[in-house]
Amino acid sequence: DNPASVKRQLAQLFDLSLRATVPDEPDVVPLVDACAAKGGVKFGDYQCNNAMGIWSKIKGKQTEFRGPPAIGQAIVNNLPPSEMIDSCSVAGPGFVNVVLSKRWLAQSLQRMLIDGIDAWAPRLPVKRAMIDFSSPNIAKEMHVGHLRSTIIGDTVARMLEFSRVECVIRRNHVGDWGTQFGMLIAYLFEKFPNPNDVSVADIGDLQAFYKASKVRFDSDPEFKLRAQQAVVRLQSGEAMYHKAWKQICDVSRAEFDKVYQRLGVQLEEKGESFYNPYIPGVLEKLDNLGLVEESDGAQVIFVEGVNIPLIVVKRDGGYNYFTTDLASLWYRLNEEKLEWIVYVTDIGQQQHFDMLFKAYRRAGWLPKDENAYPKCTHIGFGLVLGDDGKRFRSRSSEVVRLVDLLDEAKRRCKTAILERDTAKDWSEEEIEKTTEAIGYGAVKYADLKINRLTNYTFNFDQMLNDKGNTAVYLQYAHARICSIIRKSGKDVEEIKRSGKVVLDHEDERALGLHLLQFPEVFEEACTNLLPNLLCEYLYNLAEIFSKKFYSNCQVVGSPEETSRLLLCEATATVMRKCFYLLGIVPVYKL
Ligand code: ARG
Repeated sequence: DNPASVKRQLAQLFDLSLRATVPDEPDVVPLVDACAAKGGVKFGDYQCNNAMGIWSKIKGKQTEFRGPPAIGQAIVNNLPPSEMIDSCSVAGPGFVNVVLSKRWLAQSLQRMLIDGIDAWAPRLPVKRAMIDFSSPNIAKEMHVGHLRSTIIGDTVARMLEFSRVECVIRRNHVGDWGTQFGMLIAYLFEKFPNPNDVSVADIGDLQAFYKASKVRFDSDPEFKLRAQQAVVRLQSGEAMYHKAWKQICDVSRAEFDKVYQRLGVQLEEKGESFYNPYIPGVLEKLDNLGLVEESDGAQVIFVEGVNIPLIVVKRDGGYNYFTTDLASLWYRLNEEKLEWIVYVTDIGQQQHFDMLFKAYRRAGWLPKDENAYPKCTHIGFGLVLGDDGKRFRSRSSEVVRLVDLLDEAKRRCKTAILERDTAKDWSEEEIEKTTEAIGYGAVKYADLKINRLTNYTFNFDQMLNDKGNTAVYLQYAHARICSIIRKSGKDVEEIKRSGKVVLDHEDERALGLHLLQFPEVFEEACTNLLPNLLCEYLYNLAEIFSKKFYSNCQVVGSPEETSRLLLCEATATVMRKCFYLLGIVPVYKL
């Protein structure tokens, strides 16, 4: 529910009108939407599209209406008077077009400037939510897929926080358990017979370490045996094995942290290993409910609509990725009392989560209605591709070190900025801060602006271009607005109170309307968990500002200066909120 949404406010008015227009059709809900320009022309700001639907419902019945246009007209006539609306007209087969009052638009904007943009936040009926994201696997590479998960997951967390969810947990479900640890531990013991000698620096490049131990594993049966024994001894909690396991995890963690530090993302780690003690109890409960069956020596659960069963205990008695997720979800619902849990992984894991949630529904541990709380949602994303259209890889090796990738983005930004005159008198620190904000922001934005379900191509030249739909362009646009305000020499807080927003010029009005549409766009992005909708909105905002408003409306030194400065400030405020939601640090000077 979002009282600031223009669309919702209009829908409420139309709801009243519909009740009066067709009192015998209580099920009719108002269909209100912003108008799209047709051939560059807009017939209104918003449309109500109920007339056609109502006509097909009632045309067989006794009715005073002789077609959808007449219904449209009645909807207009029955609208209660409102200061929101300037005029209404019926077009074509019965569309009701609404032109909003520019006075009302201006007042609404002014109120936001005074109350702050958080007054535009919606309110979700959830107090405790969790986003399970990033979640790389220890000792395997943290690949670009995990980068996507990290970027998208953090944005979703920010969106829920803005929606006034009191507690949003960012959870790193690190893959820190599994048979690969036997191999790694055996190799560690072989290289460092005295465990006290091992330091993080010695293991160093964990991927190389992993590869080397894999070579040993595949070539030496005796080593393989030791590796298998190591798993058992680790799982039975032997101190030396546990210590080695922890050492390996710490090295990985240090590497992951470099990525999180650059992205400004803070995750709370509870790795797969954490849930081991909970597994037997959860399986027992599921068994008591009659869900667990025997199949081919394994223990499985069948769920609705899927032919293959979920294996919860392997034939050798071991647990798997799925078993851990059964236990972790139990913990999250019962111990952490979460009402909404969002999992962010590549689309490849969709079936895994679908089956997990279905198993929980079968057990009665999640409500049958998918939209009721407590609720679980999986949001998937597509692949990251290289210029060759194949899975993204670096030239030299199989995988890309994510830290290198982010450092490269920053380095390229630095080169570009140092070439400009403006940076001449900047301090070293200013240059660092600015290039980090732009470089890392550009990587994030390039990912977020694509609908997460589609694949996207990783391309530095494209994402760092200062023209087009990139974070670099948006940062410049924002910095320019800040500089206009600075150069005016006016105290913004002062004019917010004493000045008045006026939207007389059509480009002022267009900008004002777009600004006021932020709440409804945000609501849609949040409902569908699609950050790309926010990016699209933000880009359009920057375009309307520079191509329409700023090209045609002189700000500083014009008679309308105060109002126009307020429009600049409102634009910068909304842009910064979008940046914030997308995890991008705004730059005020460029
Ligand atoms: N570690 C997994 C991977 O790298 C992602 C874990 C996602 N979260 C979960 N609860 N299964 O693909």
